[in-house]
Amino acid sequence: MNTTEFLAMQSEYSAKTKGAKDVIDASFPLLQKALKDVLPNFDQTVFGLADFGAADGGTSLELMLKTIEQVRSTQPDLPIHLNYSDLPENDFNAIGRMLNNLDGKGMSILGKYPHLTVSSSPVSFYHQILPPNQLTLGFSATAMHWLEFAPGNIRDHVHIAASQDEEAKTLYRQKSHTDLVKILDHRANEMQSGGYFLLVNFGINDKGQFLGNTEGVHMFDRFYNLLSQMVAEKKITAEELQNMNFPQYYRSKEDYHAAVADEQLSNQLEIVQINDLHTPCPYREAFRATGDEATFVESYPGTLQTWSYQVFYVGLSKERSETERNTLVREFFTRYEQDIRQRPQEHGMDYIHHLVLFKKK
Ligand SMILES: C[S@@+](CC[C@H](N)C(=O)[O-])C[C@H]1O[C@@H](n2cnc3c(N)ncnc32)[C@H](O)[C@@H]1O
Repeated sequence: MNTTEFLAMQSEYSAKTKGAKDVIDASFPLLQKALKDVLPNFDQTVFGLADFGAADGGTSLELMLKTIEQVRSTQPDLPIHLNYSDLPENDFNAIGRMLNNLDGKGMSILGKYPHLTVSSSPVSFYHQILPPNQLTLGFSATAMHWLEFAPGNIRDHVHIAASQDEEAKTLYRQKSHTDLVKILDHRANEMQSGGYFLLVNFGINDKGQFLGNTEGVHMFDRFYNLLSQMVAEKKITAEELQNMNFPQYYRSKEDYHAAVADEQLSNQLEIVQINDLHTPCPYREAFRATGDEATFVESYPGTLQTWSYQVFYVGLSKERSETERNTLVREFFTRYEQDIRQRPQEHGMDYIHHLVLFKKK
């Protein structure tokens, strides 16, 4: 099953994912470090910027503007090219609307920066997207944990990070390594010598924490338990639950070091720095600050569905009608929402990221 099928992009992405912007904002100091190194001796004719897995571009807009400002402050006349890429199913019109400020949620950046050109590419980051030697500063946030496809079923869970299935763990670890090397090899081909790529990615930290597994309810366990209940009640089959596998891998720091040590990359890329980032769930934070339970139980569930709905849908038998499959997934989320209503203080989805700064040799 190709990951593309899980990721039909929703417009209004930014509105539903406040935490994603907090993460991107927190990564700016590392980007600045790269800029400080690159800008003083920059001798190429174009400064190439790119956001891979950009969605509607809303969450990274401020970071991109700050970067453009910084380039202009050193080299005011230097042409800058900014590329946004995502899967072909992405809502690329949303990027256009944002960059032209058509609905007042973005900024008309082309008018503001005369030396800036922009392009968008409906191309997976598992392909080369830019021509060789065009990329000065690449960026990707919360996207490259998606594998090209799930390498197999997980016998005891929906997510490999929470599984004890040793066979599946080996399979996913190997696939994650191959995929990361492939992604980085393409980026290395695109990058100028001395250029940087900042990868902001979901991961597993040194405490073993990952998305939705930091305190209170363990989100992925809850997913699995509620689905198992639906199996016990014969709402869905055990086979369907087996087919619900997140094609994702939350990497450790060692996984990034292993990738650049791979013979395909060792002559091309080095890791300059890896930082940990723990971003508290913005919905839970607001709930704690205001005590407004009603808003929490109304708004929090939506942030779970944006990225997971398709995984559950695709796992359900194709012999069922689309309506039936959607009804079952909605029933699953209703059960999750009931759980949130019963014990709201225990729910929340903190983000665990690594910020990995790569440099092209
Ligand atoms: C959680 S969103 C992150 C969006 C944005 N970068 C941010 O941090 O707010 C993940 C994005 O990755 C994209 N994505 C997943 N797999 C991809 C692939 N193979 N190639 C390009 N984009 C991909 C999805 O379509 C989605 O837009």
